[in-house]
Amino acid sequence: KGCFEKFSFEALQESAQYLLDRTSIRPRIGIICGSGLGPITETLTQKQCFPYEEIPHFPTSTVKGHAGQMVFGYLQGVPVMCMQGRFHYYEGYPLWKCSMPVRVMKLVGASHLIVTNAAGGLNDKFSVGDIMLMKDHVNMMGFAGNNPLQGPNDDRFGPRFPPMNRAYDKQLLTICDKVVEEMGIQNIVHKGVYTCLGGPNYETVAEMKLLKVLGVDAVGMSTVHEVITARHCDMKVVAFSLITNMCVADYEDHTEADHEDVVIIAKRMEGLLKEFVSRVVDHIKET
Ligand code: HPA
Repeated sequence: KGCFEKFSFEALQESAQYLLDRTSIRPRIGIICGSGLGPITETLTQKQCFPYEEIPHFPTSTVKGHAGQMVFGYLQGVPVMCMQGRFHYYEGYPLWKCSMPVRVMKLVGASHLIVTNAAGGLNDKFSVGDIMLMKDHVNMMGFAGNNPLQGPNDDRFGPRFPPMNRAYDKQLLTICDKVVEEMGIQNIVHKGVYTCLGGPNYETVAEMKLLKVLGVDAVGMSTVHEVITARHCDMKVVAFSLITNMCVADYEDHTEADHEDVVIIAKRMEGLLKEFVSRVVDHIKET
């Protein structure tokens, strides 16, 4: 109990039922909108919004100016539900609480999860504004003994010891490759390994050097616990990072990571990200 106390299956069913009782949309795909992807919800048709504070058991967002709502609608004719605004560890929620909406998505009926985030680029081949499709992650917080699945396991969600070696769905990555080709954006799209740190501070030079040695291509403050929770309950997952800044791994480099820059780059790439996700959804429709 204590810090590992979690919402019961029944409590999360109440969250899901609240939504199901108020919409006739039955989402096939869940989408977590990171920085810059919130506007994807503008393209939904038959849109219905549910503020987090009105959904039973949902945490309330602490970040000022963050929308914080679940948006149902159709994207390319596919029923979807989008998290506009997510919960971060640095806000003070335990990891299981940050990722509880993923279980609600599963209980509402979503079989697929698309996760997006803003991240700092560590790979020298990356540039600001690039997209990194996640082929894998390093659960750094898990190394330190922190994991969203800690505490009693409810087998109705998934197994006590879920495998994580095929976390990112091959077929969905192939779909992304197709979309990259259709859009002609091969020059700005990469595949790589993401890691999540707790934040809220950005990394020291020594930490960046360490992450590089570990084979990490991009670093952020989200996503990994959401993906672990989704895989635990057997959702198909695809995730990508928008590289909003390049990480400083050199003591002579005096550039500093800055949230304003993250927001500016996210805004600049908004249109492209919207098109990317909407094409991916269009291809999932055919599967
Ligand atoms: N580090 C961690 N998280 C981030 C960064 C970064 O450089 N950029 C955007 N999110």
